[in-house]
Amino acid sequence: MKNFLITGGAGFIGSNFVHYLLEKYPDYRVVVYDKLTYAGNLNNLRDVSDDPRYAFVRGDICDRELVERVIQEYQIDTIVNFAAETHVDRSIMDPDAFIRTDVYGTYVLLEAARKFGLERYHQISTDEVYGHVPHGHSSLETDPVAPRSPYAASKASADLMVHAYWVTYNLPVTISRGSNNIGPYQYPEKVVPLFVTNALEGKPLPVYGDGRQMRDYQWVGDHCEGIDVILHKGELGEIYNIGTGTEIENLTMVEILLDELGAPRSLIQHVEDRPGHDRRYSLNVDKLKALGWESRHDCEAAIRATVRWYVENEWWWRPIKEGEFKEYYEKMYGNRKVLDMSETSASRES
Ligand code: NAD
Ligand code: DAU
Repeated sequence: MKNFLITGGAGFIGSNFVHYLLEKYPDYRVVVYDKLTYAGNLNNLRDVSDDPRYAFVRGDICDRELVERVIQEYQIDTIVNFAAETHVDRSIMDPDAFIRTDVYGTYVLLEAARKFGLERYHQISTDEVYGHVPHGHSSLETDPVAPRSPYAASKASADLMVHAYWVTYNLPVTISRGSNNIGPYQYPEKVVPLFVTNALEGKPLPVYGDGRQMRDYQWVGDHCEGIDVILHKGELGEIYNIGTGTEIENLTMVEILLDELGAPRSLIQHVEDRPGHDRRYSLNVDKLKALGWESRHDCEAAIRATVRWYVENEWWWRPIKEGEFKEYYEKMYGNRKVLDMSETSASRES
């Protein structure tokens, strides 16, 4: 494992993983292969752009010919596939690109990995494939997948295909299922960077429904370490959950975020909920811990560190919020009903 193809490496987690690999392993080479959709951003890789061990190729993972050429040209031995359409709300508005990239694109990469006999194919997946998790349970890797949004369904489909390649062709695969990542370089459509930057701009924070949905907010660096451990110590054909192992309500996340910023709670605005919104995700991470991995940040520490990064890095997010994002925001939030919470039952669902 020395020559990595990091697909989707210009996105949020992929770019953090590229930084992580180049810092930790002096003899590793990294080729980032990325289509540069709205979510891809070469500013995320600015710090490594002069590193001779790094190369960038603009390309679509659905483009079989280009994928094969790049694998041959750079003598790739390992693929880590981060490339995906990733935002649940966009998948509800228009699932098409999700099916193409997340499902078909994964198949193209698997075929290429098989054709060239690669040492490892690692699939970056998500806790969303387990669907809503009732209180009292935390998802195990052996739990059935029960995705409920077009995004989650596309990721679950990809996981099943990756597993099929292991069983059928003995392709050396591993899969990791991460919880909600936060940290540097996350496109501000996702809740934490959206809320921090809205607050910094004095805009309301649109909390979906009662805000009592539960998520495991994980520091992206902890996720990267988990992937590294799986690549080096994981068992082939296996799935590993990666998260803090605890989850908090969205309203608690917002309170921590506002507290770190010193901004008022009056910025909170409850708005019409996301259709099919999963109330709770929760991961059991014992399997990865057994390989020696440990989460270094709890949800609160991860949120506070993320807030500080956005405060200190306006150069990164301000231009994004001026571009394509404005149109998206108007479409997603412009006509969204504002809720009067005194009329809404804020009861906890199981
Ligand atoms: P992101 O949206 O920030 O980045 C996705 C990247 O993939 C972008 O650089 C984009 O240009 C690229 N891309 C999209 N379609 C492509 C295509 N057809 N060909 C090549 N490149 C393409 O995503 P992220 O949040 O960094 O997520 C990365 C991976 O991690 C995804 O597979 C996602 O499902 C998974 N994941 C994300 C989270 C999270 O909280 N963000 C949690 C668990 C798992
Ligand atoms: O759980 C892992 C998943 O986390 C990843 O697989 C996805 O790629 C990533 O987008 C993320 O999905 P979520 O839907 O959980 O993340 P998002 O940031 O969109 O929303 C987090 C929570 O905040 C969720 O309960 C919905 C809520 N929310 C979100 C937005 C954008 C709001 O209340 N208001 C908002 O404006």
